[in-house]
Amino acid sequence: MAKILLAGGAGYIGSHTAVELLNAGYEVVAADNYCNSSPEAIRRVEEITGKPVQLYEADIRDSERLSQIFRENKIDAVIHFAGLKAVGESVKKPLMYYRNNIDTTLTLLETMQAADVRNIIFSSSATVYGEENPVPYKETMQRGVCTNPYGWTKAMMEQIFEDAARADPSLSVVLLRYFNPIGAHPSGRIGEDPLGIPNNLMPYVTQVAVGKRECLTIFGSDYPTKDGTCMRDYIHVVDLAKGHVKAVAYILQHSGTEVFNLGTGTPYSVTEIVETFERVNGIKVKHVYGDRRAGDLPEFYANADKAKALLGWQAEYTLDDMCRDAWNWQKQNPDGYRSSD
Ligand code: NAD
Ligand code: WQD
Repeated sequence: MAKILLAGGAGYIGSHTAVELLNAGYEVVAADNYCNSSPEAIRRVEEITGKPVQLYEADIRDSERLSQIFRENKIDAVIHFAGLKAVGESVKKPLMYYRNNIDTTLTLLETMQAADVRNIIFSSSATVYGEENPVPYKETMQRGVCTNPYGWTKAMMEQIFEDAARADPSLSVVLLRYFNPIGAHPSGRIGEDPLGIPNNLMPYVTQVAVGKRECLTIFGSDYPTKDGTCMRDYIHVVDLAKGHVKAVAYILQHSGTEVFNLGTGTPYSVTEIVETFERVNGIKVKHVYGDRRAGDLPEFYANADKAKALLGWQAEYTLDDMCRDAWNWQKQNPDGYRSSD
């Protein structure tokens, strides 16, 4: 079976993808510098699957270290998760974001070329559709004007991949544009473990529910949506991980560059998220309505037809599942991997 390198594999989406790849029979090598994760996540991946992961502590910008990984493992495809992802932080520290995100990509592509590894799948984001495109977003739309440096790094990296593949027809690229991944593995053993105050909605909700934060502020209640709060396409992280397994099977059979949205195609409002979380888990989440957050779009969601047609993938988990599994993870691990036994 093919061997897959997960760059940034100890993170939230990487660890869930590792589980699904191992369950599908692939061999997994993970490389991470743990700047936003813990090796404990990979230990738990092994516990869930009963299978080993070859784990390297490595900065993906370090070409010597990457070359060593490629020398020690015959890698069939790389999935590139490694990057910084906090939108607000990227506005304050743009150079750090450009340096880390773009350098990891360039170093990966260069060392892959030297090691004759021809397949790469990239964690892109719905944010590259920018502000102009109408919803639902389709892969055929042009990338738009991003609202923050994080988004620009994703748009720039998509461009880098496209140019590299155009110049080298033996390079195959799959760009996966994630919508809003939430939830956790149903075992409750791996999940999202943000450092400090969460930027994203669901970890904030679970931290209020577990008593780590006082109160959720819902950012804006006067948007032109059905209840005035923003609408997003939330996708269960296990569905997202399974999308990567399909993308691996696809890239091993196809050449060229292909872009896929990974979303459900169904948007929910912030108020619906809070109400569903409360209902499914039988727990109150204290919340207030506050000002809009700068840069938030009223609504975006995927047209998910292409992934269904070409990858044979579609999301299966419901919003109830996402809320249940997010809470299951948080209540079993109130301090994330730091509450490790
Ligand atoms: P995450 O922070 O949990 O995972 C990213 C991993 O990359 C972390 O383990 C981090 O330690 C590692 N990393 C960062 N820079 C590195 C470097 N220079 N060398 C080695 N490792 C490094 O984030 P995630 O939610 O799992 O996201 C994975 C990818 O998906 C990211 O590229 C992110 O931008 C993208 N993405 C995430 C979301 C989301 O909402 N979570 C949405 C769209 C796209
Ligand atoms: C969701 C909704 C907030 C926190 C971001 C990135 C995007 C992608 C996914 C990486 C919004 C509201 C949030 C809170 C709130 N990441 N909210 N109170 O902004 O849709 O997308 O993560 O690529 O690029 O921009 O996700 O989880 O931050 O917010 O009301 O405390 O929840 O306003 O409507 P977002 P989010």
